[in-house]
Amino acid sequence: MRKIIVGINSVVSGMKMAETIFNDYGGIIVSETTILDEHIIRKLKNLDITKIKVLDESEEIIHASDSELFRAQYNVNVEVVKDVLHDISVGRNVNMHRIEMVSDSLFERINENRDIVGCINQIRSVDDYTFAHSVNVSLLAMLIAKWLRFDSQKIRELVQAGLLHDIGKARISEDILNKKGSLSKEEFDEIKKHPVYGYRAVENIPGISKDICLGILMHHERNDGSGYPVGIKGDKIHEFAKIIAVADIYDAMTSNRSYRERESPFEVFEIFENNSFGVLDPVVTNAFLSNIAAYYIGDLIQLNNGMLGEIVYINPMHISQPLVKVGDSYIDLTVHTDIKIAELI
Ligand SMILES: [Fe+2]
Repeated sequence: MRKIIVGINSVVSGMKMAETIFNDYGGIIVSETTILDEHIIRKLKNLDITKIKVLDESEEIIHASDSELFRAQYNVNVEVVKDVLHDISVGRNVNMHRIEMVSDSLFERINENRDIVGCINQIRSVDDYTFAHSVNVSLLAMLIAKWLRFDSQKIRELVQAGLLHDIGKARISEDILNKKGSLSKEEFDEIKKHPVYGYRAVENIPGISKDICLGILMHHERNDGSGYPVGIKGDKIHEFAKIIAVADIYDAMTSNRSYRERESPFEVFEIFENNSFGVLDPVVTNAFLSNIAAYYIGDLIQLNNGMLGEIVYINPMHISQPLVKVGDSYIDLTVHTDIKIAELI
C-alpha cells in the first residue's frame, strides 16, 4: 500500500502509521501499523513532530470515532456482567450465552491495545467497581495472553474466565463485601470462599471448559503457597489463574475504592518489580510489565513533588522509574529514587 506524508494538523483518528517513531532516547512513541487515535495525535503534537508517514488507505480508514465506540461497547459489557452477577445473587444459573457474547465483543478488539489500556485507566466508577473490574481483568488477561502468544481459542476462554473470576462474590453478603472498616476473621474467612462459590456456580454448565473453572477456582492462589482457598504452589496453579491474578491485582490497586485512593500505574509497577518475587508467576509478571509500559511513553504525569512532566523513556529493567522531562530538563527516576510518579494526567 502507498505511504504518504501528512502534516500533523491534517492527521485524523483512524489513520494507520506507516513508520515507527522513536523519541530521542530510543523509546517507541508509536509503532508502525498503529491506528491513530486522539490520544496518540496529541502526544505527537506535544513532542513537536510536524509530519508523519501514514498508509494511504483512505477507503479503509477506520471511523474516526472508533475509540468512542470501544467505550460505548465497554459500558454495555459492564451492564451485561452486572446482570449476570445479579442472576447468581438471586440463585439463578450463570447465563453463559451472555458471557460468550461479551467475551466475543472484547476479543474482537484484541489488537486495539491502546484503547484497552486507556479505557482501563480512565473509566473508574466506584459504584460499578465489581462489574467494571470484571471487564478490566478480562481485558488485561486478554492482553497478557496475547503477549504470551496463546492461541485464539485459549484467549477466548481466558477472557470468559476473567469475566467470571469473582462470580462467587455474588453469593457473599453485601455487608461483608462493602464493609469499610477492617474485617473480622470470620468475615475474611467468608470472603476467602468466593473462588469455591464461583467454581461451583460454573462447573456444571454444559460444555464449559475445565480451564475456565480452574482459572476461577485458583485466582487467589499464590506461587509460594500463601494464597487461598487451598494454598497450592507454583506449577500446581493453573496458568489462567496466574494471569488473572496479575490482572486482578493491577486493576484493583489502580482503582478508586470507597476505602482508599487509587495508586498510579507506576506505583503498582514498582510493587510488581520489587515485591512480587515468589508470589506471582515471574513469566506472566514480566510479560505484563515489559509490554504494558510502552503505552505510557509520551504520557503527561504529575510527580510526587508536584511538578508536571512527560514520560520520555522507560528502561525495561526499571519500568517503574522512567526518564521524565520537566520543562527543559530531564529527571531520571532511577537516579532520583525519592521522586515518584504520583498521577497520570
Ligand atoms: Fe477474587
